[in-house]
This record gives sequence, C-alpha cells and structure tokens, in this order.
Amino acid sequence: MNLTIPSKLPSATTSIFTVMSALADEYKAVNLGQGFPDYSMSDELISLVNEAMRNGFNQYTPMQGYTPLREVLAEKIETLYKTIVNPDTDITITPGGTCAIYTALTTILKPDDEVIIFEPAYDSYIPNVEINGAIPVLINLQFPEYKIDWTEVKKKITVKTKMIMLNSPHNPTGAVLDENDIARLRSIVKDTNIIILSDEVYEHLVYDNIAHQSILRYPDLLTRTFVCFSFGKVYHCTGWKLGYCVSSPELMKEFRKVHQFNCFSCHSPSQVALADFLKNKDSFLSLAAFMQQKRDYFISLMRNTRFTMLNSKGSYFICATYNKISDEQASDLAIRTTKEAGVAVIPVSAFYKAGTDNKVIRFCFAKKKETLEAAVEKLIKL
Ligand SMILES: Cc1ncc(COP(=O)(O)O)c(C=O)c1O
Repeated sequence: MNLTIPSKLPSATTSIFTVMSALADEYKAVNLGQGFPDYSMSDELISLVNEAMRNGFNQYTPMQGYTPLREVLAEKIETLYKTIVNPDTDITITPGGTCAIYTALTTILKPDDEVIIFEPAYDSYIPNVEINGAIPVLINLQFPEYKIDWTEVKKKITVKTKMIMLNSPHNPTGAVLDENDIARLRSIVKDTNIIILSDEVYEHLVYDNIAHQSILRYPDLLTRTFVCFSFGKVYHCTGWKLGYCVSSPELMKEFRKVHQFNCFSCHSPSQVALADFLKNKDSFLSLAAFMQQKRDYFISLMRNTRFTMLNSKGSYFICATYNKISDEQASDLAIRTTKEAGVAVIPVSAFYKAGTDNKVIRFCFAKKKETLEAAVEKLIKL
C-alpha cells in the first residue's frame, strides 16, 4: 500500500540552523551560526543535577513543575520586576521555551484566528500558529534598528486578531523593547480581548545597563499575557530543553490543560538542581555582564573586517551588513562564508517567510574567546 498523508505543515523545510550547522561540520567551519554556547556551563549546576539523581529525584514531578523551583522563580520575579506572582497558579515548568510557546498558542488559537508576528521572527512561530489552523499576520520590524511600527500594528488589527507575539531581547537582531513600546502596546490592546505572547528566553541578556522590559513588570498586561522563558538559553545548557511560562491564573489554568496532555511533567533532576542554584541571586544577576563582555570583545575584533556591525542591545546575537564585501544575497554570502572563509553564519532573510533580504547576516557571540578570535581571523580575509 502506498500510504500518503496530507502534510499539516506543507511549506515547512529543514530549519536554517540545521542546514548551516551541517554545512559547518562538513567544511570544519567555526560555527557562529546556531545559537548555543561552546564553553562549559556552571560546574555547580552540573553537580547539583548529579546530586539530585543520587538523592532519588528520578520520578515525575507535579504536572505544573517542581514546587521549590516555581517558588524560587516567583521570588526572582519579585526581586527583578516587583511583581508578585503565585507559584501555585501562575507558573508552569515546560520542556524548553519552544514548547512553552507552542502550548500557549495551542491553548488560545482556533481556526482562522489572526496572530500578529513581527519579522524577522524565530522560526517556530509561524508553523506553531499554522498548525493550530490560525493565520499569521506578518509585520516587518523597521530595518536597521528593528523597531516595531505600532501605527502599522494598529492598522493590522481586525476583529479576528487573537494574539500579538513579542520577542525581547530579540532573535535574530538583538533589539529590545523600550518603555514607549510597552505604552503603545498597552493602548492598542486596551478594550480588546487580544492575548499577548511574550517570548523572553534571553531575559537576563540585556546590555548597556538597559532595564529588560519584561511584561512581568506590568501586572495589567500580565493578565492577558503568556510570558515564556528558557533555562537552557540563559544558563548555557541549551540541550537541557527546560523552560517555563508565567501568566495569570485564568490563562494558566487553560495552559495547564494542554500541557497536562502533551508533556505532563519535565525532567526532574534538572528542576531540583535549578531550584537550588537560583537561590543565589548571582546566578542570574551576573549573566548580563558575562555576555556583554563577549559582545564587546566580538565587536572590537570585527572592526578589523569589512562587515558593518548593527546594534545589539540584548540576546546573544549581533547582525552585520556587508556592502563593502559584496552585493550577493544574504543566503549566498552565508554559504560562501562557511565554505570559503570557514565561518558559519545565518542569513537574516531566513527569518522572513517571504525571504525579505536586507543583506544582513547574524553572528552568535556566545562563544569562547578563542572561538571568536579564530572566526574573525578568517572573516578578515573576506
Ligand atoms: C527567540 C527564541 N525563542 C525560543 C527559543 C527556544 O528556546 P528553547 O531552546 O528553550 O526551546 C529560542 C532558541 O533559539 C529563541 O531564539
């Protein structure tokens, strides 16, 4: 029998990260493409996981997550954003940020609902909306600062608009939301039933003493928002795939219905370890300075190349234009940079459904000093 199934995601292909990482392996290139650190994570956190396993934390945690971890997260939220959330009703531990986002979208979306997504966008957003039968409404961030054009947002709101998806600090551009963005957002959603999804997986990685404009600072907006986080992204362990979602009790009650029958509960020893690790506030307060140093070092090295660096105020990515090198498309340049120069990068055009090409590439600077130096030594030749 020749079994054929109609694809639920007919336009989905292998992600650009997988493609570029495979190319990086093939050409033994330095990989500044995919967003993961190449340095070791905290020894203390590794020991805490080992200890948790030895101490018998190897069975299911409660469906909503290990209670002491949710409690320490509520404390962290109060310390950083002065907002009180209830760990019993407002926080759920998820298998990574991506799954938190998927669960939030699936909780809310019905066929034909419209979801406003800003491009360039992290690659899971559009397929996650489409798999729920909903319609992505795409708006370009304004190149080269990648700011949101709120006037355009207002124009795109219809009776079908169910959600607005935000991402700050932003992948791939490193842009961050400011207080004016929050004010514009607030005025747009006022008197509507629009739900917000705020992807804050790079939460602690905001630089130059800028305050992260988390939705968690704004209890009036939190009542209509799912705020999604990733332990993997900020604690240098992307392979752990552990994250969490914070919301209002009403929204979280529905979120947990989807979570319960999808993942049910997450890796127990990592949750036990993180609960202990996060008691020390330095574990998160030290992250911005640590990563800013990497960003600044990378920028100083890149001055010796013909790339023009754009601003990165957060995340662990920085973008660059290359008009002094060539006028080829970003995807061609990224392939050539990998094959000929031996440095894998990501074309920002891959973060647009229509492939919009401002001739920009993205570098990940969450790398060892030696890796950044080795990469720039090669990039100088372009
Ligand atoms: C903007 C954004 N959201 C979510 C994620 C996914 O986080 P996790 O690895 O915890 O699923 C990423 C990872 O690259 C990301 O860049």
